[in-house]
Amino acid sequence: MKLSQNYDYLQAKAEPYAEDILTHDNFLSMQNYYQHGSVSTWQHVLRVAYFALEINRKMHLHCNRRDLVRGALLHDYFLYDWHDHAAELNEHPKLHGFYHPTIALKNAKKDFDLTALECEIIYKHMWPLTLTHVPTKREAWVVSMADKWASFYETIFCR
Ligand SMILES: [Fe+2]
Ligand SMILES: [Fe+2]
Repeated sequence: MKLSQNYDYLQAKAEPYAEDILTHDNFLSMQNYYQHGSVSTWQHVLRVAYFALEINRKMHLHCNRRDLVRGALLHDYFLYDWHDHAAELNEHPKLHGFYHPTIALKNAKKDFDLTALECEIIYKHMWPLTLTHVPTKREAWVVSMADKWASFYETIFCR
C-alpha cells in the first residue's frame, strides 16, 4: 500500500466513485479542520478512502467500491474541529469519539442520498469504541480498519 502524502493522487483514486462529494462545499470545508497533528479531516478521509480501496484490492474482498469510497469519504463528516470544544456542532466535546459517527451520519444525510451500506459504514466506523455498533457488512469492516491504519500513520508520520 502506497503511503502517500500527495493528496491530488489520493483524491484521483476516489474521484470515479464520488465526484459530487469531492466538490461539495461542506466536504471541502473539512480542509479547515485538523484531525491528527497537521493533517486536516479532508486529508484524513481521502487517505481512508484510498486505504479502503487498497485493502479491498489486495485481500480480494470484492467490496462494492462505490459504497466503500463514499462511506469512507463521509465517515468523519461531522464538520467541526474536534479540538474546538466551543464549536456549535461539537455537541459532546469530551465524548467526541463516541458521538461523532452519529453527527457525521446526520450531516451526510442532509447533503447526499445515502445507501443503507454507506450509512452503516459511517455509523459503525468507530467500533470497538462504540461497543454496540458492530459492523455487519464487509465494507464497514474495511473502512473501520482503514480508518485505524490511517490514524496511526498520520499520528506517527504526518507531524
Ligand atoms: Fe471517526
Ligand atoms: Fe476517521
